[in-house]
Amino acid sequence: MSDASEWTAGTDVDWDAQAPGFDDEPDHGLRAPETRAAWAGRLRGWLPDQPSDVLDLGCGTGSLALLAAEQGHRVTGVDASPAMVERARAKLAGQDARVLCGDAAIPPVVEEGYDVILVRHVLWTLPRPAEVLRHWRTLLRPGGRFVLVEGVWGSLSPVGMPVDEVTGLLAPLAGRIRVEPLSDDPLLWGKTVTDERYAVLAEI
Ligand SMILES: C[S@@+](CC[C@H](N)C(=O)[O-])C[C@H]1O[C@@H](n2cnc3c(N)ncnc32)[C@H](O)[C@@H]1O
Repeated sequence: MSDASEWTAGTDVDWDAQAPGFDDEPDHGLRAPETRAAWAGRLRGWLPDQPSDVLDLGCGTGSLALLAAEQGHRVTGVDASPAMVERARAKLAGQDARVLCGDAAIPPVVEEGYDVILVRHVLWTLPRPAEVLRHWRTLLRPGGRFVLVEGVWGSLSPVGMPVDEVTGLLAPLAGRIRVEPLSDDPLLWGKTVTDERYAVLAEI
């Protein structure tokens, strides 16, 4: 995400309107080989070594979902925006992947059907994140994990979720929780950033 402050409050965003230009941001479209490689490397470290079922909630245009599929995982993407879903389906064509249109908070998928819940830059936009995380946990198989990539963007009117908020919400739901700071890697963002960006890896 380049600068979420330009999108005002997360829940007010018209994602269908954002879809055509969404991939223009370096960390969205992952068009630059070095940006793509940086995210692919992180994802390899976050996802299981063996082929797994990955649920990408609020998958947007499917850039991370595609990387996961290319690494041998079976991917289900869910997004509420038909325009995002259309782009994600095109991007994931030919992969072991499907993209559903639905609410990330209560995705239209079976319980205990997934090894990984992957969410990038979406949890902060959802009302009642504690409730949402509790529900997401029911979708994970025993031994599954959360991979949550979030942050706090902007300085004047920052938006997002501080890492302590995310780890606090996960504490009652997960066993081992690990935080990986992401602000110090400009390859991920296509530029140097100074705000708070991180991944939280939580095993249940
Ligand atoms: C900042 S974008 C992130 C997209 C993608 N995860 C990525 O990192 O490239 C937020 C995405 O979440 C989707 N979204 C927001 N609220 C949602 C909800 N309640 N249910 C499903 N999708 C939602 C939007 O349509 C948009 O595609």
